[in-house]
Amino acid sequence: MTIVTDASDTAQAAADTGIQAFLVTFIIRRFDPEVDAEPRWVDYDVELYSTDRVLDALHKIKWEVDGSLSFRRSCAHGICGSDAMRINGRNRLACKTLIKDLDISKPIYVEAIKGLPLEKDLIVDMEPFFASYREVQPFLIANSTPPKDKERIQSIADREIFDDTTKCILCAACTSSCPVFWTDGQYFGPAAIVNAHRFIFDSRDDAADVRLDILNDKEGVWRCRTTFNCTEACPRGIEVTKAIAEVKQAVLRGRS
Ligand code: SF4
Ligand code: FES
Repeated sequence: MTIVTDASDTAQAAADTGIQAFLVTFIIRRFDPEVDAEPRWVDYDVELYSTDRVLDALHKIKWEVDGSLSFRRSCAHGICGSDAMRINGRNRLACKTLIKDLDISKPIYVEAIKGLPLEKDLIVDMEPFFASYREVQPFLIANSTPPKDKERIQSIADREIFDDTTKCILCAACTSSCPVFWTDGQYFGPAAIVNAHRFIFDSRDDAADVRLDILNDKEGVWRCRTTFNCTEACPRGIEVTKAIAEVKQAVLRGRS
């Protein structure tokens, strides 16, 4: 299928911006559980600008060609974490993947992230992912109450220890790029460990031992094989493998 916007509009836009439009072929793995026994690959030629992102191409296909194309997105600016997908075999956020950074001399393959049940097209069931997240108790648990009308004081150095893992947006790009998670859906996965790390190393929190005990399970941190897929996949640049290693150390030696 080819999607070409009105030629005069395109020419005008190009003249206004000085940016040239070009055709890009997308091959998208589609699946409609009400019709398809198996997923199928469907190709679309889309007219885009180099400033467009993969999310813009998906919008164009959905809005101009096939409204049934299903995918999640919300913020469109790398914050909500809802549009993680496999783009040319690599987990990325569609809203942060610029067309100019892809090789458009070849088709761009887009499919749902792996390891979670496929629901429709690019949408997977995220519930197993969030179940693991909930299990590590990703919230502050403090035994004491803060001084009246005061916040809990934390030094800059103490805050720095877990700064990296505060950046997680729960997109699941790490967990769904992990070969251990593909073969063992019971494994907590990198994202749950990252979010446990965020509280285990928070000096204001008193439940590190509880979380470390949870992650010292056969489906916990010891399932990690240090493949670094998670770190490479993380759109927030979190050193996921390093965080997992720090949690392993804490399981063995305690938090500090
Ligand atoms: S650690 Fe990175 S890749 Fe994993 S869920 Fe958080 S933001 Fe996404
Ligand atoms: S749509 Fe929110 S992160 Fe991409």
